[in-house]
Amino acid sequence: MTKCVLVTGGAGFIGSNFIFYLLREHPENLVVCVDKLTYAGNLSTLTPVLQHPGFRFVKLDICDRDAVMKLFDQERPEAVVNFAAESHVDRSIDNPSVFLQTNVIGTSVLMDACRAYDVARFHQVSTDEVYGDLPLDRPALLFTEETPLHASSAYSASKAAADLLVMAYHRTYGLPVTISRCSNNYGPYQFPEKLIPLMIANALNDRPLPVYGQGLNVRDWLYVEDHCRAIDLILQKGRVGEVYNVGGHNEMRNIDIVRLICRELGKPESLITYVTDRKGHDLRYAINPGKIKNELGWQPQTPFGEGIRKTIQWYLANRTWWENILTGQYQRENEDICRGLGVS
Ligand SMILES: NC(=O)c1ccc[n+]([C@@H]2O[C@H](COP(=O)([O-])OP(=O)(O)OC[C@H]3O[C@@H](n4cnc5c(N)ncnc54)[C@H](O)[C@@H]3O)[C@@H](O)[C@H]2O)c1
Repeated sequence: MTKCVLVTGGAGFIGSNFIFYLLREHPENLVVCVDKLTYAGNLSTLTPVLQHPGFRFVKLDICDRDAVMKLFDQERPEAVVNFAAESHVDRSIDNPSVFLQTNVIGTSVLMDACRAYDVARFHQVSTDEVYGDLPLDRPALLFTEETPLHASSAYSASKAAADLLVMAYHRTYGLPVTISRCSNNYGPYQFPEKLIPLMIANALNDRPLPVYGQGLNVRDWLYVEDHCRAIDLILQKGRVGEVYNVGGHNEMRNIDIVRLICRELGKPESLITYVTDRKGHDLRYAINPGKIKNELGWQPQTPFGEGIRKTIQWYLANRTWWENILTGQYQRENEDICRGLGVS
């Protein structure tokens, strides 16, 4: 029987990769992608599936309660996977309010619709950033699901608030929820404001590579497809009401990532430019993924060396995709594609 999975934020980086994953791994599903197409939404990413019989795109703001309820009434999804979010820490420092609106209010609107239409699973895609940061000099310390929430930025605070709300809906209304808290993702279709695609794009254009502070901040990098597989497993076999940490066991300093990109592209490290550190910059994130490994058998499958080479190759082979973002052309294309689909 066809199962309708509603994926919010599917025109963004991880959501689009998840849609490709779902349509490939579960061809019996109908996937409805809901996206507002903010600056981070790029419909050209979804070109390969726009005509797929098991796929439908709906342009919609998850904060628009009436529109969300109407959509649930039409589609009657069995599962909702919420990727839709404002996701860039730097932007949350400049303008926190839109983060609260989408990441907190939007999540509550979706959950109200799930309650109203008896959705069998609401999955919230969260982040390790809700735990705050770890010190650089205690490498044995890792985030577990029991680590207290201790957010540092308006972005991570809004994600932490949403997580609390998701657990509250479970406790209060019995909503069948799961949460995944993942470390930094990298891979194809990531918007070139985030570290890895920004550095690749700038290096290819022989532009300066801006590194915050001394570049010593540590992140735990995971190839996006490994994240998609983790979410799918949680949907299939995860226990309702549970949080699952997802991480790559792959801690790297920002500066080492940037140097590696220079080496891979044959560009000089003299392009690296140290800039004033981000306000409140978290030092280190590191995930203990023991729970998802022990309960669901998940492990990362893509070693960093392989994943970063695949990613760099993808940005080399898909130059138009990211150049259209740099020029703003992608937003005109979004309008054209929407017109073609009859979506307003
Ligand atoms: N990128 C990472 O490394 C990472 C790591 C862990 C968790 N996450 C989480 O994963 C999710 C997806 O992250 P991403 O990197 O793909 O983000 P992204 O910024 O690339 O994509 C977000 C998408 O959400 C859409 N959107 C924003 N506001 C909306 C609204 N009000 N209504 C409908 N759609 C809206 C945007 O148009 C965009 O397509 C986020 O919830 C983020 O917190 C990301």
